Amino acid sequence: MSAATPAEMQPDPSLMAREAMALVADLATISDEPGRLTRLYLSPAHRRAADRVRERMEEAGFATSIDPVGTVVGRYEGSRPGMPALLLGSHIDTVRDAGRFDGTLGVAVALAVVADLARRNLRLPFAIEVLAFGDEEGVRFPSTLAGSRALAGTFAFSTLAECDADGIALVDALRDFGCDPSQIPAAARGRQDVLGYLELHIEQGRVLEHEDQAIGIVSGISGAMRLGCRVEGVSGHAGTSTMQDRYDALCGAAEMVLAIEEIARSRGHVVATVGRLAAAPGVVNVVPGGVEFTLDLRTIDDVERCQTVDEILRRCEGIARGRGLGFEHETFYDQPTTFCDAALKTILAGTLARFGLAPLELQSGAGHDGLAIASLCPIAMLFVRCKDGVSHHPDEDVSGEDIIVACAVLAHFIEALEPESIKYRCSAHHDGNASASRA
Ligand code: HGY
Ligand code: MN
Ligand code: MN
Repeated sequence: MSAATPAEMQPDPSLMAREAMALVADLATISDEPGRLTRLYLSPAHRRAADRVRERMEEAGFATSIDPVGTVVGRYEGSRPGMPALLLGSHIDTVRDAGRFDGTLGVAVALAVVADLARRNLRLPFAIEVLAFGDEEGVRFPSTLAGSRALAGTFAFSTLAECDADGIALVDALRDFGCDPSQIPAAARGRQDVLGYLELHIEQGRVLEHEDQAIGIVSGISGAMRLGCRVEGVSGHAGTSTMQDRYDALCGAAEMVLAIEEIARSRGHVVATVGRLAAAPGVVNVVPGGVEFTLDLRTIDDVERCQTVDEILRRCEGIARGRGLGFEHETFYDQPTTFCDAALKTILAGTLARFGLAPLELQSGAGHDGLAIASLCPIAMLFVRCKDGVSHHPDEDVSGEDIIVACAVLAHFIEALEPESIKYRCSAHHDGNASASRA
């Protein structure tokens, strides 16, 4: 094989961007629901999407596998086999009626950038693993981050018994997907196996648009609490129950939902969402006797998040007492805020500067797999500007030019990376993060 020409020795961000956009477009057609993009963890669409990503990885020359929790892994060896790996990637599961870029863009860009390395047969002083996680959104099962937690060695085995809305347990869904849950411990990486984790993701906000910049560096990922709440009243006849002697669970829940909104608004940087609410028995001529609703509450300050949830629960209990209703709640997700690694952010700032970009740092209000991976190794994230900050919506959009910039930045970061700067950080980071997680 003749020596590569200088041109071939250079990364080709335009080609990478075209390949990334092609994979995003391809995956956007793989859905569990006709007419809209919905791809839930371990669903038939997730299986087809995982197979498609794996095929693309194999075309690029990576060694591929699908791990015991459904994560697609594509490994590109360094200058010697078995070297510690830089982890790249994102998730390929979606919310219901999703946009095509949330998660998928990060997988597609990482894959395209590493495929360009392989095309040039450029071997680095570390391996690279491109990961396509399948459970970042946490839509199908109460728990979430199964893939990244398994990789970090923090998978909660109790969640295997959790069921989805159809009563299918996670353990059975894994088996139906072709996974062997007994192998989940084997998915965990050792600290000596990884250098760090870098995820590229759409911003899902408007900061980069406002600053007129294509790419930003994530400072940290806001923590979140998610609760299931239940309001207990008494069902009654819609025609014969007088308004005075009703115990209407839905009216009580409605007052609680507005109280939640009022409390969150009063606290400035808290966001609270009642995303799902169901009234029972849910028929036109029966006073609702029971309501179940979810609460998702986020803010970067862990103490404020707990205080706000306590204030909300006190308020809901007061509303229930005043109406003669019962009120119960259960926290099913409690994730502290996680900060990105300072050394990685400094390197990324230098990379952005090479492309004339300011080292703009911004906080992520959205959750990401890095929340789980931070217990294993240093994490970093790059945000790509997205149109009007729209996400979790079919109108999600990113410009082709910004994807070319994203590819160029990621390619340069990887090729200029000196493992020792991170590897040292890895052990120091671990101690720091361990104490943080005890906080
Ligand atoms: O909910 C989130 O923040 C993420 O999109 N899963
Ligand atoms: Mn996402
Ligand atoms: Mn999302």
